[in-house]
Amino acid sequence: MQAGFKQDKIYTFIGPVLVSVNPFKQAAIQRIRGMYSAETMRKYSGRQSFELPPHVYTIAESAYRALLRSSKGQCILITGESGAGKTEAAKRVMEYVMAAAAAARPSAKATGREVQDLLLQSNPLLEAFGNAKTVRNENSSRFGKYVEIFFDYQGQPLGGRVSKFLLEKSRVCVPGKGERSFHIFYQLLAMGGDGGDGSSCVLHALGELQAYSYLARSGTTQVAGLSDADEWSATAEALTTLGFSPERQTQLMELVAAVLAIGNISFQSNRAAGQVLAKTDSQAAVVHQEDSLKVAAAALKVDPRKLASALTNRTIATGIDRMSTPLDAAQSAHARDALAKALYARAFDALVEQVNRAVAPPPHAELTLGVLDIYGFEIFEANSFEQLCINFANEKLQQLFIEFTLRAEQAEYAAEGVAWTPVEFFNNCVVVELIEGSRPAGVLLWLDEECVVPKGTDASFLTKLASNLSKHPHLEVSKDQAARTFTIKHYAGDVAYAADGLIEKNKDLAYRNQIEMLSESASPLIAELFPAATRGKTSAKKIETAGAQFRKQMDALAATIGRCAEPHYIRCIKPNLKKRPADWDAQLVAHQVRYLGIVENVLVRRAGFAHRMPFSRFLGRYKMICRGTWPAPPAAQSPADSCAAILAAAHIVKAGYELGKTKVFLRAPASVFTLEDRRSRALHDVARILQGAYRSFAARRYRIKLREKSMAVFEGLKRRRGSWRLPFLGDYLDAAEAPEVTRMLLKAGEARVYFADRITHVNRNGKAQERILLISDRSVYVLAPTKWRVNVRVAFDELEGISLSTFADGFMVVHVGGGAKGGGAALLLQVQRKAEVVTMLVQEAGASVVCSDTIEFRSKRAGMFETSATETRTITFVESAATAGSAALLDEKSAATGQLRVLVPPVLGSKAELQIGKGGAAPAA
Ligand SMILES: Nc1ncnc2c1ncn2[C@@H]1O[C@H](COP(=O)(O)OP(=O)(O)OP(=O)(O)O)[C@@H](O)[C@H]1O
Ligand SMILES: [Mg+2]
Repeated sequence: MQAGFKQDKIYTFIGPVLVSVNPFKQAAIQRIRGMYSAETMRKYSGRQSFELPPHVYTIAESAYRALLRSSKGQCILITGESGAGKTEAAKRVMEYVMAAAAAARPSAKATGREVQDLLLQSNPLLEAFGNAKTVRNENSSRFGKYVEIFFDYQGQPLGGRVSKFLLEKSRVCVPGKGERSFHIFYQLLAMGGDGGDGSSCVLHALGELQAYSYLARSGTTQVAGLSDADEWSATAEALTTLGFSPERQTQLMELVAAVLAIGNISFQSNRAAGQVLAKTDSQAAVVHQEDSLKVAAAALKVDPRKLASALTNRTIATGIDRMSTPLDAAQSAHARDALAKALYARAFDALVEQVNRAVAPPPHAELTLGVLDIYGFEIFEANSFEQLCINFANEKLQQLFIEFTLRAEQAEYAAEGVAWTPVEFFNNCVVVELIEGSRPAGVLLWLDEECVVPKGTDASFLTKLASNLSKHPHLEVSKDQAARTFTIKHYAGDVAYAADGLIEKNKDLAYRNQIEMLSESASPLIAELFPAATRGKTSAKKIETAGAQFRKQMDALAATIGRCAEPHYIRCIKPNLKKRPADWDAQLVAHQVRYLGIVENVLVRRAGFAHRMPFSRFLGRYKMICRGTWPAPPAAQSPADSCAAILAAAHIVKAGYELGKTKVFLRAPASVFTLEDRRSRALHDVARILQGAYRSFAARRYRIKLREKSMAVFEGLKRRRGSWRLPFLGDYLDAAEAPEVTRMLLKAGEARVYFADRITHVNRNGKAQERILLISDRSVYVLAPTKWRVNVRVAFDELEGISLSTFADGFMVVHVGGGAKGGGAALLLQVQRKAEVVTMLVQEAGASVVCSDTIEFRSKRAGMFETSATETRTITFVESAATAGSAALLDEKSAATGQLRVLVPPVLGSKAELQIGKGGAAPAA
């Protein structure tokens, strides 16, 4: 991965999981030019995952195609640390899918376009309200989201749905040091009251950023390279596109302004305010500065007195009775922050709801592609409720992954009749149960319990965990009373959670009197967000804890994902903590690889077969690897046998694969690469064949010329039986395609095969042998027919001449000069395509031709042992009516004597035409 990263290859596949390493920022984007261009998108369109280098488009493409192919929902799950690139990846996926849909769209149909715009516009809007600058990421998503895009069966988008998880609302009141609150606050102040319909006094009365304590406290107000005013324009445009009316936009921005104004309200105790009071009320708080109260009340459009009362009192309803207790200054500040958080959180909910209304698909839509952008595992020094939820989510996703893989694999193996031999891996379902279980109760349920019992505290919660779950192998409650932590052994590592604050975060109660106060707001938006509770028992009882809500959301998510055909995974990794390009912190990366469960992903997947492919696809893709299956497997051969032949040709051993009923299963991922490698080499060869076909045009012209020329060569010299009537094709054996021949030619520095055909070679012992005669651009070869092994090579310049009989037999003697001892051994050959061979040698090697019925030639000595010594022999051609058949025969007895005799039947002798003169006795070609 590191090596790839250095070369800007930010994507890698580890098993089925795409790992993306954040290259960081514009500098990187400029360097990796074209990485996300339309051109690159086109390149990935319609390609299999292993055909091109890994890319986020690989995953997007395979999800989109799988959606269309299987008509089953797909999901892409993206996890990783903050700043690792999840949101960027999610956006790239969405863009790719939209582009792919647009490319597939019939031009007459424009319906998909609008949906596409709406969906893409939802990103800047949700980011404005849900993202913030943190120390880890300038644009950190402070909520998790699952975006589903609905498609019709032609792959055109119909609409979408956004589900969000766990907005970090505490940020509204206390952004960390060096961090900011949600972008929208800064956008609001940057636009200076221009938002909405422009008529709002609240917005016109906005102050300086430094005047708002919620924003000023963190000490950071700017993000380098980011203009909040420009961002506001984008947000405003998105609001309009997504159907927020000008009035609604004003109300929304007034709500945001109200949150800031609320933050400026401060409290002091009654006594400090100098009031004379009953004893019990001496600690009760009053608002410190009336002005700030008025500003906040104006923004909220409520009565200032009611606002003050709602902040300094707490109402508890017991049945139909109501009891109001005054709060002290600290409690009031707490109530104030609770109000701000509740307002913002509900506004965010409403925002998501409006987005969902705007992009809502038609009711019949059901085919979805979902993209999950959610935090990966979090392990900090101090881990609290948020980490518990996030890590629980990751456990749940891991569980889904395992179930999916195992279920799908087992079902498939059973269907294909392939044996299943499981490999060890950690199944985390015990940890999931430990957290969310109801029978026996898990951690979240015990927490809920402590929120309901009258005197429940963080400490009593811990005690209950210890007494009820202490035997659980994945839970450990700290014995150190002061530490007050419990440790869960997650699949990614052990995490110690602090008990302090869990109860309160889990209760997450909106104050009743605050809700009532807000329900009377003159702002339609605020009144809508806080409907007055209907009096009675039901509403009081149905308070859901944050943990219970999150569990519900996770169940819903798991159910949604569970309906998908198969999840696709992207794991994002941060190469360093400094947000710097080209900086690789090996330890940090190793840590993330572990926490992201990448190793587990691979292990689970490896439990079975890494790769599978239906026979037909396998054959289509790899048939060129094997001679027996190229260009098409024999019709009589079963697809399974053809696949086996290919696997054998690629040297993949039997243990490395299984053949099911319809699919090939490959055990090791490396096998895929082997096959791909062989394929590309074979394709290279096929390309050569095609090039050859191109060249054969020229070659054909050459051969036609050659044939004409052959007339002249034999003019009046020889009887012929018509071999000149045969077309000259040259390479009858496709020798040029054999790798052995290529190697042989390379070795001799030769480039072309002019001729190759089967012939008979008469050896020094007078024995006829099946051989191949091959003529290149510089030599004549006699080759053994198996494996093209070279028997004899005669370079053209060693060639002395050719002797033929005057009959129409196929014998020829190729005289060889040179050699160490004043001349080499001649070749005695019997050739079908004599005319072609002789003419070619005349043409290319300048050989001279002599026709005579007695030929003298040098031959190697006969004998048991190979020797370079030569002797002179003669061969005589005699016409013999007694010769059966139509071929000239070598008299075998004569062969042993060194005085060879060839018996020529009359059809090749006196009865064959004598070629004299062009067009004379010779028939037209
Ligand atoms: N593929 C990429 N190419 C170039 N820059 C990238 C890429 N991915 C991420 N970045 C850079 O890293 C920053 C952080 O990425 P992103 O916001 O996607 O992280 P995240 O995983 O969503 O983090 P968080 O959990 O905080 O939301 C981006 O703003 C961008 O500058
Ligand atoms: Mg993000």
